[in-house]
Amino acid sequence: MSKYASWTHGKLPLTELAELKRRGQKLAMVTAYDFPSGRIADEAGVELVLVGDSAAMVVLGNESTVPVTMEELLMLTRAVTRGATRPLVVADMPFGSFQVSDEVAVANAVRFVKEAGADAVKLEGAGPTLSRVQAIVGAGVPVMGHVGLTPQSATMLGGFKAQGRTAEKAERLYEDALALEAAGCFAVVLEAVPAAVAGRVTGALSVPTIGIGAGVGCDGQVLVLPDLLGLNDGFAPKFLKRYGTLADDVRGAVRRFADEVRAGEYPGAEHGF
Ligand code: KIV
Repeated sequence: MSKYASWTHGKLPLTELAELKRRGQKLAMVTAYDFPSGRIADEAGVELVLVGDSAAMVVLGNESTVPVTMEELLMLTRAVTRGATRPLVVADMPFGSFQVSDEVAVANAVRFVKEAGADAVKLEGAGPTLSRVQAIVGAGVPVMGHVGLTPQSATMLGGFKAQGRTAEKAERLYEDALALEAAGCFAVVLEAVPAAVAGRVTGALSVPTIGIGAGVGCDGQVLVLPDLLGLNDGFAPKFLKRYGTLADDVRGAVRRFADEVRAGEYPGAEHGF
């Protein structure tokens, strides 16, 4: 029997996520930024794929997530949705695409669904983000929330560091997560949050929490794909577990190719027409 209540084929129904939480079934989300990684995530059976604005750093080589544009994330999302047909594909709304007004936020969220085939969008923050969430959900686009370390506002937060570490800040984070659920979010990412705080939030919400650096008590976990694969070998935060050594593998493969070309060993007779 399927581990899912009603998902036998095709796209995972969004409504299934809260049911999976009720049944204690953990959720796996990975980021993807192109067609092959979308297809591999699909074949690996994850429930959720995030086209993260982390693309700004891990794909485009920026120092932060801030510079990535709507057009860049639309292009990447379009490629991912061609490969990932069964998981829910969530497009990250980049900095500047939802901060200005509810109207701008709705227009940009709709573009991700209409032009790129996304199933949902993700917005960072609470406070002013709450009315954006209500407006986008009201327009028929599902929204994933994101609290704790919100990289788009890392400067305001004093850098890329753990959040919710005092009683007052933990309470604020708890209230923010509850407010995001009340505003209509179908799930909430908790990033770089003490495990005890994440566990309390998870127990209070009826929608799933997806943790990154937030302990095992969340309903699901997300990792940035190049980090998970060991492609980003210079990056080693405490929460990261590498499930591959792709930087070594890829470097080695390219080096062997170049060596064989220089030695006149590739192409061999069997590679010709
Ligand atoms: O952009 C991203 O990859 C993210 C995840 C780390 C949650 O927001």
